[in-house]
Amino acid sequence: MKSSEQLAALEALLPEVLEAALEYVRQLPTREVRAGLTDEDLRGILDHGLPTSPSDPLDVLRQLLAASGGLVPSGAGKYFGYVVGGTVPVGVAADWLTSVWDQNCIVHDGSPLTAVLEDICGRWLTELFALPATTSYAFTPACTHADLLGLTVARHEVLARHGWDVAQQGLQGGPTVTVLVNESIHAAVTRPLQILGLGGSIRELPADSEGRILLPALQEEIDTVRGGPLIVCGHVGEINTGGVDRLRPLAELTHAADGWLHLDAAFGAWAAASPRLRHTLLDGLDLADSLATDTHKWLNAPYDCGVALITDARAHRAALPLSADYLNLPDNQRHPVQWGLEVSRRSRVLPLWAILRQLGATGIAQLVDERCAQAQRLATLLQTEPGIDILNEVALNQVLVRFHHPTATDDDHTQNVTDAFQEHGRGWAGTSTWKGRTVLRLSLANWASTDHDIDQAARSLIAIHSRLAAGLPGVVAPTDND
Ligand SMILES: Cc1ncc(COP(=O)(O)O)c(C=O)c1O
Repeated sequence: MKSSEQLAALEALLPEVLEAALEYVRQLPTREVRAGLTDEDLRGILDHGLPTSPSDPLDVLRQLLAASGGLVPSGAGKYFGYVVGGTVPVGVAADWLTSVWDQNCIVHDGSPLTAVLEDICGRWLTELFALPATTSYAFTPACTHADLLGLTVARHEVLARHGWDVAQQGLQGGPTVTVLVNESIHAAVTRPLQILGLGGSIRELPADSEGRILLPALQEEIDTVRGGPLIVCGHVGEINTGGVDRLRPLAELTHAADGWLHLDAAFGAWAAASPRLRHTLLDGLDLADSLATDTHKWLNAPYDCGVALITDARAHRAALPLSADYLNLPDNQRHPVQWGLEVSRRSRVLPLWAILRQLGATGIAQLVDERCAQAQRLATLLQTEPGIDILNEVALNQVLVRFHHPTATDDDHTQNVTDAFQEHGRGWAGTSTWKGRTVLRLSLANWASTDHDIDQAARSLIAIHSRLAAGLPGVVAPTDND
């Protein structure tokens, strides 16, 4: 397309996108928190067979907008599912620019702006999380990829300490690596371990009621390794309870055995922005060798951007040897391909820089502290009601709820309350299984959640629980008092 045609098309398209985007955000607070179209509806709108010839871009855009009922309005303040978060507006604006600017940031000469912003964001995050100044970083599609990167470096380094170069020699014939993981570690850690050929080396460590590794069990396992290559995986924010491993002793025990400590900190790392939490719950975070986090969860950046932080830049680079004659790689510049697993990719650091720049350290601390306070508020409202138990300590932003029924099983009742809550539309959260029991799992991660959203969700849950426990239908037509 010639550039005049490109400009004309964008002049027609972007104002419609702007209006549709603003309308979407306007409706978020009142829209039901679930998709309004079925898969069949969506196929009916979007699929009339592979088009045989070009069409008007504006028609294409309008067809896509007609399918927006298939979206889950997860940016709403009353969406408490998974660990999702909303979007800080300046991050959305920078994300739009990311597509318009369309930078490929393999190397510095492909996008000097990206290379410089990566260095700035990496340094800012190192400071925000109070990590050692030697920390290196990479910006990944998500936390799972950041875990993969951290564990790639861990595998390389612990084998190198035993005279084995896994990048050049492979795994076969090399020393056996032992990998000790928290028994409730996220699949975002076990999947990378499997990809790295370490699936068979995993040994699970028992954890307490919050999902924290039992340290004597760790010591016992370490004693059996007897000086071999060792990786220990803990977490900062267990996916259900929000539990944080006891980081300082975990690191000390691991390092005493010359092991590498990797932390999955998808949402929990952001708690380090809160001075209150950094010095208590997260004490020892700076002792980790690598940690993986997401900006699209608690920082409320738009999808998608994860970050891997590695406290030994030398080990980081050594694990990712690269030879490509067509790449221009002067030593005095940052080249993203030398620090990450991807080659071509978008400049996902633009929204991150914009959000860090706007909120600053105190703004991020406030975002975190407010969500923790809202989690406490929700737990307090729910647990005053007979037959409702909170199963976790609610030290961070996660609330685990169990509903008791006078005659049916609590597992079934908890599931039924959750199904009715989702149908009622005054909030959204899903179930999980914690220590063998069905629980409702609520995550407070959205900067836009208000106390009103929390109170409304609590009222809806209490009313549904009471009705179901009394043998009445769980869902009745919503009223203004709900
Ligand atoms: C504790 C934890 N680790 C890892 C992940 C995986 O993150 P992502 O889906 O961004 O790869 C999640 C996602 O919820 C998580 O909560």
